[in-house]
Amino acid sequence: PFGDRVSLVVFGASGDLAKKKTFPALFGLFREGQLPSTVQIVGYARSNLSDEEFKDRIRPNLKLRNADKSKIDEFLSLCSYMHGPYDEDSGYVELLDKCVAYEKKHNVAVPERLFYLALPPSAFATVCRFLKKHLNSESGLKTRVIVEKPFGRDLQTFRELQENLSPLFTEDELYRIDHYLGKEMVKNLLVLRFGNEFLGAAWNKNHIKSIQISFKEAFGTQGRGGYFDTIGIIRDVMQNHMLQVFTLLTMERPVSFDPEAVRDEKVKVLKAVEPIDPKDVLLGQYSASEDGKEPGYLDDDTVNKDSKCFTYAAFALHIHNERWEGVPIVLRAGKALDESKVEIRIQFKPVAKGMFKEIQRNELVIRIQPDEAIYMKINSKIPGISTETSLTDLDLTYSKRYSDDFWIPEAYEALIRDCYLGNHSNFVRDDELDISWKLFTPFLEALEAADGPKPELYSYGSKGPKGLREFLASHGYVFSDEG
Ligand code: BG6
Repeated sequence: PFGDRVSLVVFGASGDLAKKKTFPALFGLFREGQLPSTVQIVGYARSNLSDEEFKDRIRPNLKLRNADKSKIDEFLSLCSYMHGPYDEDSGYVELLDKCVAYEKKHNVAVPERLFYLALPPSAFATVCRFLKKHLNSESGLKTRVIVEKPFGRDLQTFRELQENLSPLFTEDELYRIDHYLGKEMVKNLLVLRFGNEFLGAAWNKNHIKSIQISFKEAFGTQGRGGYFDTIGIIRDVMQNHMLQVFTLLTMERPVSFDPEAVRDEKVKVLKAVEPIDPKDVLLGQYSASEDGKEPGYLDDDTVNKDSKCFTYAAFALHIHNERWEGVPIVLRAGKALDESKVEIRIQFKPVAKGMFKEIQRNELVIRIQPDEAIYMKINSKIPGISTETSLTDLDLTYSKRYSDDFWIPEAYEALIRDCYLGNHSNFVRDDELDISWKLFTPFLEALEAADGPKPELYSYGSKGPKGLREFLASHGYVFSDEG
């Protein structure tokens, strides 16, 4: 782990990601005593801001829990701001001076520097080149670099990025964030599966009929339309966030929680996934809400007027191995839907009918957000004189079980803490990305071809494209009203 005299440099410090996620996460860690009060935090960006102007920008997003207000000022006193270019030596030379001055002042023998690149990926290679040249050239130095998706838009662009970065920083020094891996319930998946015999024993094709991983957002592209139009929902959340959830849900048992052991198993299961069938998909794009109050996707001025970009997609993944042969795993994701919710639904096979007139299936639901929960739908006798059964929940809803005083770190807090501790488990390894792009690139190419499918329109605030029910049914999901 890093010690207590670390230079934490956030590139892109005046941007949205830094303001909304990185600095609030750093503050959260500080507030909870997880970040030493002896580190120095430097925000770096091109905008010419004074220290005070910079602090005024980040202050509104720093959230107190039980701590008192003085924590915010204490935290801000560790922060300073520097402006400079990303593609010239000058800024980096100045940055080096700042790091060295701090290290000298505190007699740091082995400098420890963490660079957080809250920047678009087009800037990664340039910034890393200059970092290597100026801030990582001394021997014995400990450096960690955090980068965040998108890691390319297909296999080729991912590999190009990789070719640019890997000569500069080792895999050990690079921390690739997929923030879903920092979410509490996602981190719980391996414990749930491998720490509970009754679940572990049933976690296979003999007992499970179908799985769904669903991502719903109740808002549209919210001013990011221009960017979203170049990527679509599959690259935005499915190839990364949802695929991570998929691998944790389906991988084999790792020998330990060791980062390499976990990531080796993730890669193995991805290798067993059949190429995705571009004909077996449900695609949608949202139009204005029925009451006309919420705009349609194409109403965004920054979006191409004849764009057929998908804001909704559903497709199934099929794994060919002993555990999962024949179990469809549906990924579905959409923006501008009726609610915001991310959950996993695992539906079990039916029990033998015989003694029951009607009996429904068990379904395990793991809700990642909001309000983390794990509940199992089980059949139980209606209490009292009735002999009827009903489906009811064995329910572990976190907000009911754990008090508000219990600190559950936000995804970025958890991940920055992991990076600080030098734990790679919840970061994405290069070969994982390679294999996931191998899986998604031909699929995306087929969908995005000039003669590719057109999305079905669904209104803002609805449940999504009309064909969803049939789509799920065709992949083995049985609705409770069908028994
Ligand atoms: C981001 C996507 O990676 O994840 C966004 O670019 C999406 O479009 C977001 O809204 C979802 O993250 P969360 O943590 O809000 O579920």
